[in-house]
Amino acid sequence: MRVYNFAAGPSTLPLPVLEEAQRELLDFQGTGMSITEMSHRGKPFMAVNAEAQQLLRELMNIPDNYSVLFVQGGATQQFAAVPLNLLKNGKADYLVTGNFASKAYEEGLKYGDMAIAASSKEAGYTFIPDLNSVKFRDGIDYVHTTYNNTIFGTRYTELPKTDATLVSDMSSCILSEVVDVNKFGLIYAGAQKNIAPAGLTIVIVRKDLLGNAAPICPVMLNYAIQDKNDSLYNTPPCFPIYISLLVFRWLKKLGGVPAMQKINEEKAALLYDFIDNSGFYTNKVNKKDRSLMNVPFITPSEELDAKFISEATKNGLVSLKGHRLAGGMRASIYNAMPIEGVKALIEFMKKFQMENK
Ligand SMILES: Cc1ncc(COP(=O)(O)O)c(C=O)c1O
Repeated sequence: MRVYNFAAGPSTLPLPVLEEAQRELLDFQGTGMSITEMSHRGKPFMAVNAEAQQLLRELMNIPDNYSVLFVQGGATQQFAAVPLNLLKNGKADYLVTGNFASKAYEEGLKYGDMAIAASSKEAGYTFIPDLNSVKFRDGIDYVHTTYNNTIFGTRYTELPKTDATLVSDMSSCILSEVVDVNKFGLIYAGAQKNIAPAGLTIVIVRKDLLGNAAPICPVMLNYAIQDKNDSLYNTPPCFPIYISLLVFRWLKKLGGVPAMQKINEEKAALLYDFIDNSGFYTNKVNKKDRSLMNVPFITPSEELDAKFISEATKNGLVSLKGHRLAGGMRASIYNAMPIEGVKALIEFMKKFQMENK
């Protein structure tokens, strides 16, 4: 039996995608082998790679003056790749809105003069700092943001006021809502939440930013080299790229990102409204900054939190335990989580409240 899987990443994938992958696993399009067993330079895989890149461009409306790179190493590798490629003046500012934002800053410190322009750490990362009052330093090469904060459940609803290049980690929100790519110099995302199994990382970078990599930049992290080689400098993560293609097709059929955003807003509103009106569950995040993808919540006690997680699991609602830094529960309701899953969670929450208040 399939469960409703609220894991933060790797995460649930659309059922039709899994079914198609299953159908094609032993014999990919008459080749007599699976997509994971063939050369990444052969025609069948090259076609998969090209269509996946093209569909991502279409879905996100990515202009021609941006490169789309399919790389490896996860979003964490980008914490280093970004400074190694983008620093020209040697300095950049970071908005520290969560654990991954903090890690990006810490990694950046190895390569340049980095500063924290604002942080919500003192308040347990429960809000996005007021972007109108944030001051950035002169002469910075970029401002780094984490668009959706997976652990604490916050998201940007506006962008920092700066002329500097905007860099954004969109690991946990890519393709979940419409974003104007033109506003960013660089967007990156680990694929394992909204796109594919772990192993693929997406980088979308404006072409004028290519070609300035530091001499010590490893070849695999050099965006210009990846761009020149169509992301096939070495063996790519073939299976995640293949699944990404199926997910992109699924999303396009559904109406693309605008349609997905509507569904995501509906799912999130159902859950937040229920939590806010329950008198039992609490979400501590500033309302304006609430994530559409990750919804952390607590019951009145840690004992009840543990009981909730255990009983939910028995009811087919799994991976609801909050991150170890945040405690409590977290429902990750990525693109592939159907609204029925959110409704089932709310029904369970009602029942649990009745039995335990
Ligand atoms: C916002 C964000 N950034 C970075 C990461 C780290 O990603 P990876 O495990 O792909 O390195 C995560 C993982 O959950 C994340 O949610």
